[in-house]
Amino acid sequence: MQITQKNSTGTSASIRGLDDLRTEVVKASRYHVQSGTVVIDVGCSEGTVLRSVRDANRATRPGVRYLGIDVEPSFESHWRERAADDLEFRFADARSHRFDDASLVVSLFTFQFLPFATGCLCCNASTTGWSRAAR
Ligand SMILES: C[S@@+](CC[C@H](N)C(=O)[O-])C[C@H]1O[C@@H](n2cnc3c(N)ncnc32)[C@H](O)[C@@H]1O
Repeated sequence: MQITQKNSTGTSASIRGLDDLRTEVVKASRYHVQSGTVVIDVGCSEGTVLRSVRDANRATRPGVRYLGIDVEPSFESHWRERAADDLEFRFADARSHRFDDASLVVSLFTFQFLPFATGCLCCNASTTGWSRAAR
């Protein structure tokens, strides 16, 4: 299963291994996406990965809602091109977003850029505690 969407920002050229990871994510999504759930791409940039995940699962997994979130407004024109009935992109901050009903949450090369002012998303540990544990 190859990635079907092209990216125009040069991100794939500047991050080593990103293209391979994208292809693997699309392949793996076929095992994880469940009908009637939500699939989220956090830091979706232009939306290339999410659109490919959606295209790979649409025929076999009915009732799935695909949602890409990013804080960068300049992707809007790409989002308009890739949006579909079941695929939506939103300006949203990963640090305050909810992940209810998700069968798959994808995030490639995004979380390392986030300043976690409010602590860890999964366990609510304080930023200080997380940093200390990671050392
Ligand atoms: C290296 S790019 C991600 C590449 C993308 N996942 C892909 O496969 O093409 C990092 C992305 O994270 C987004 N980002 C940074 N902080 C964010 C935040 N707090 N919430 C959501 N997205 C964020 C940036 O705008 C950027 O698009």
